[in-house]
Amino acid sequence: MSCDPPQSRELRIRPVEADDLAAISVLHRAAFGPGRYARTAYRVREGTAAFTPHCRVAHLGDRLVAALRMTPITIGGSPGAVLLGPVAVDPELKGVGYGKTLIARALEDAATSGFRLVLLVGDMPYYGRFGFVPVPAGQIAMPGPVAPHRLLARELVEGALAGYRGQVATA
Ligand SMILES: CC(C)(COP(=O)(O)OP(=O)(O)OC[C@H]1O[C@@H](n2cnc3c(N)ncnc32)[C@H](O)[C@@H]1OP(=O)(O)O)[C@@H](O)C(=O)NCCC(=O)NCCS
Repeated sequence: MSCDPPQSRELRIRPVEADDLAAISVLHRAAFGPGRYARTAYRVREGTAAFTPHCRVAHLGDRLVAALRMTPITIGGSPGAVLLGPVAVDPELKGVGYGKTLIARALEDAATSGFRLVLLVGDMPYYGRFGFVPVPAGQIAMPGPVAPHRLLARELVEGALAGYRGQVATA
């Protein structure tokens, strides 16, 4: 058994497996605290499977340090979009770059899987660096209240955002 601190090992990113769910739940509690189920983004995912083939986890050695969920959605009935979130990084390891690395990888994988658009509810100052832009007001509706400046989209295919209009639902 290695005694290296986790920071000294390489970040390993892979799809989520059923055995990861308990550790992801612990991570979410640490990162978000109670009240996390009140968020509108959670309403979209209500009643869906606990994870999809597009969800990712990041490990340092055996330690789960970050997790990211991706849920295929339709927008106004059109497929080809995916909802990103939640993204959570172990609070002890915030600011090291694991969030950035995991999100960048998830975007690459989503493009490879044929998605055209990634949608999320989050902070533009953080997600802008990945190419997310605010969705024009009134173009896309989430199933619950969202501050308009927090509904962000990242095109995986140029011009994709203009083609999506209407209500978000799980695919
Ligand atoms: C937000 C989160 C995923 C970022 O992951 P991370 O690994 O800590 O971040 P990284 O190390 O990749 O990036 C750090 C950079 O992002 C910036 N940053 C982090 N959170 C930010 C925010 N909410 N708004 C603006 N910038 C932010 C840092 O200032 C830093 O900037 P720099 O690169 O210019 O120094 C992580 O902090 C987290 O799990 N937070 C709690 C849960 C949460 O809010 N998740 C997102 C909503 S679903």
